[in-house]
Amino acid sequence: MLAAGKVVTRLGSHCPWHRCHRSLSRISVREALSSHDEDTRKVKVQGWVRSVRDQKEVLFLHINDGSSLQNLQIVAEPSLRHSSISFGSAVEVSGALVSSVGTKQSVEVKAEEIRVIGECDTKDFPFKIKQRHPPEYVRQFPHLRCRTNTFGSLLRIRSEATAAIHEYFKSHGYVHIHTPIITSNDCEGAGELFQVEAGNKDPAPEDDGGFFGVPAFLTVSGQLHLEVMSGAFTRVFTFGPTFRAENSQSRRHLAEFYMVEAEISFTESLEDIMQVMEDLFKRTTSALLSKCAEDLAFFFKYVSPGQKDKSEQLIKNKFTVMSYTEAIEILRKAPVTFQYSTEWGCDLQTEHEKYLVRYCGDVPVFVINYPYDLKPFYTRDNEDGPQRTVSAVDLLVPGIGELFGGSLREERLHILESRLDRLGLTDMYQWYLDLRKFGPVPHGGFGMGFERYLQCILGVDNIKDVIPFPRYPYSCLL
Ligand code: 4AD
Ligand code: MG
Repeated sequence: MLAAGKVVTRLGSHCPWHRCHRSLSRISVREALSSHDEDTRKVKVQGWVRSVRDQKEVLFLHINDGSSLQNLQIVAEPSLRHSSISFGSAVEVSGALVSSVGTKQSVEVKAEEIRVIGECDTKDFPFKIKQRHPPEYVRQFPHLRCRTNTFGSLLRIRSEATAAIHEYFKSHGYVHIHTPIITSNDCEGAGELFQVEAGNKDPAPEDDGGFFGVPAFLTVSGQLHLEVMSGAFTRVFTFGPTFRAENSQSRRHLAEFYMVEAEISFTESLEDIMQVMEDLFKRTTSALLSKCAEDLAFFFKYVSPGQKDKSEQLIKNKFTVMSYTEAIEILRKAPVTFQYSTEWGCDLQTEHEKYLVRYCGDVPVFVINYPYDLKPFYTRDNEDGPQRTVSAVDLLVPGIGELFGGSLREERLHILESRLDRLGLTDMYQWYLDLRKFGPVPHGGFGMGFERYLQCILGVDNIKDVIPFPRYPYSCLL
């Protein structure tokens, strides 16, 4: 028999009953669900109602507070029924955490009081109870989609992946650097820059140089600032937002995305850099598979069936390595017609990248030694002919194509000077040349697109569905 209970709305919170429950310790849904205590204990839980089952003798609620995919079952006697308890409403439940007689859960809360903290207008709420909405529909509600199971799981996985990446670098002796978001350089030289200007005219620009006195942009990569730091700390990394004004609506491009970047001093071989890339990818993925088992199981069942085996395979097999020249030979012999050119010297397009990955048996592929003219000014000349190839590497992965871009950096002053000179960039990069004058060492590094990583592991088709608030051409919601 359930204890006599009370439902109170926010206005009723001054009643003596409420004061008595206020002293109860609040626990999260996750803590409640992992409770193995056989003894009944009084608890308070808060969350949003995910389902209401109103039976004659008993009221069942399932509530979720974002701490886990699974909901906590609340069992209440009919007197606690209240019209404002509905799908989506926010509630605080006080009661006894007990073993459940039901088979679907091991514990439940026998409610003694249900406070409705915030009502939900279910008619206007865009998500319907027990309904799975298509991603294109859900995407229209960036302010509410975190309340869906799919996006809730995604964001918990994203949070764990962030922690796992930080953990990887920390345990390997890297120093974390906050590289600037506003910068005066275009690291990649591709001109895909968002320019930053003050909205007001304060301070007044004396010679129209704008707020900073020089043109300033949102960063496309923290690499050059990391190179500064690798000249003192040897191994450094950064993990922050990067911005590209690429006019692309593709399912793997965003205007604002997160990049994980590392820079390593005292390394003369691209293989050393590739080893770190492979290790980072595999360790992070292993950590996710063990730490996010429940959320991943949900994803692999409902969002991307078949992906579980693929993700597990990715961390088992050794990644393949081929040169750009070999890649071009493979593409030219391919029994398919590509839309874009496969002449030596042409950039690899997504269609080429995907073909190469399939050709290698759906194993990630490192493509190394790209043509000199395809890569930015900082990449190290292989000197295998006059400006023929550079020590650059891209890692291509199944379903996505390019996931990492990296290289050895040109540390030889005279070679870098003449390259910058040809590009007319010598004045702008005096500070970068300085790094080659004051104790330069061979070094290199890489950048990994964090959203593409999540797409690859989770089997999510569109990059817009793995970031909390996607920004892309003609869309900057919220
Ligand atoms: O290959 P990228 O342009 O390399 C760099 O920026 C180097 N400076 C990094 C370094 O060496 N420190 O970009 C790195 C990765 C790409 O491989 C891709 O995964 C991701 O960033 N990326 C994007 N992700 C989403 N949307 C976009 N518009 C992206 N552009 C690049
Ligand atoms: Mg690249």
